[in-house]
Amino acid sequence: MSFDRRRFLQTGSLLLASGYARSLWGQEVLPPPKFAETPSFEPTALFLTWQQDPTTTMTVQWVGTEQQAADRPVWFAKAGSNEWRRQAGKVKPYPMTERSVIRTELTGLSPDTEYTFRIGLDSAEQSFRTMPAKATNTIHFVSGGDAGIGSHPVQTNRLAAAQKPQFVVIGGDLAYENGKNPDVFLEFLRNYSRDLRDGKQLIPMLACIGNHEVNGGYGKPRSDAPFFYSVFDGLFTDSGYASLDFGDYMSLILLDTNHTTPIEGAQTDWLAKTLKEREECPTVFAFNHVPAYPSFRPMGLVIPGDAGTGDGNRKHWVPLFERYNVDAVFEHHDHTYKRTHPLLDGRANKNGIVYLGDGSWGKIRKPAKPDARPYLALTDEAYHLSVHRIEGEDRFHVALADSGRVVDVSATKKRARTGSRA
Ligand SMILES: [Fe+2]
Ligand SMILES: [Fe+2]
Repeated sequence: MSFDRRRFLQTGSLLLASGYARSLWGQEVLPPPKFAETPSFEPTALFLTWQQDPTTTMTVQWVGTEQQAADRPVWFAKAGSNEWRRQAGKVKPYPMTERSVIRTELTGLSPDTEYTFRIGLDSAEQSFRTMPAKATNTIHFVSGGDAGIGSHPVQTNRLAAAQKPQFVVIGGDLAYENGKNPDVFLEFLRNYSRDLRDGKQLIPMLACIGNHEVNGGYGKPRSDAPFFYSVFDGLFTDSGYASLDFGDYMSLILLDTNHTTPIEGAQTDWLAKTLKEREECPTVFAFNHVPAYPSFRPMGLVIPGDAGTGDGNRKHWVPLFERYNVDAVFEHHDHTYKRTHPLLDGRANKNGIVYLGDGSWGKIRKPAKPDARPYLALTDEAYHLSVHRIEGEDRFHVALADSGRVVDVSATKKRARTGSRA
């Protein structure tokens, strides 16, 4: 046997042993591809989100033409490895344009692992990190809402990226395109794509829906929020609400305050069932756009026949949050910073739930003062984001203004059980 032939066979068996040419989780493992030395293609608005467990999956999305998508599967490998896999994206319309949303959900990933990836062979190298399988290390994310486009949200984007969060949750009113303007929504995504990264590493975005995602704001069908659903319908498959479970240690509940799904009825029934199933989960956070405990808008009746702000939440959801031991509720829409006292049925109680908000990533208003609304512990008028850290049973929440000023520091502990088993 010639040396070359022997080497070829050895190489072949090594390749097989290391998994090349084998199919894992439906993705082909391939020899290292030849990536362009100088990237010549930049995928528009490339960003990451999740549809399933963030410990083992990642959804990669960008906006482009069908032609651009056709030859560009996602190539990905564990950072430092040469075991490349590729996966084609699903192409769907980006509404009201000739463009498409290209979505590739990577599954069967290893937890707490950095992956390198590229869109096709001719774009720049990017990376992401899956969430840990267990909450043994600190879990660390940023939340906020009511962003829009322009200089203020971009400044908050940069402040968010500087926190190096594992992910970001935007609680509605992302771009303010009102379900009508594809360019405005795309600019929001492009800004996020450019700003929310740590070097090559992209920071995934989750979101719940707000009134400014919807043409008409409230009580509309999903088709009136075409841009929001064009990129988030992997998680919100047929309604405006969803839960996302991180392993067995954290669950995020993302709700729709009557923008495309009524509060009462199917959504509340789902919430009761979903919270009950997660009653033993160490951390359960709920996110909604319109606040149950507003800091700017009045919660009482202002227009005859019209309910006050958050009336539906207080009537239908707050009793479930309390019964099933939700750890904190993140609220938005009022464009302020607020922290409520721990509340049970609207009254301060050490075993109650803290409501944090109220959405001022890129929009601000002058909030009500706590002495005017006894449920409020603190309010502030500032563009802000909140940083959340979970360390074992402790949860810390820090509100940062866009100037970098620390607006508020608070902690929540697992609540004494008041709920279904009491
Ligand atoms: Fe808003
Ligand atoms: Fe809003």
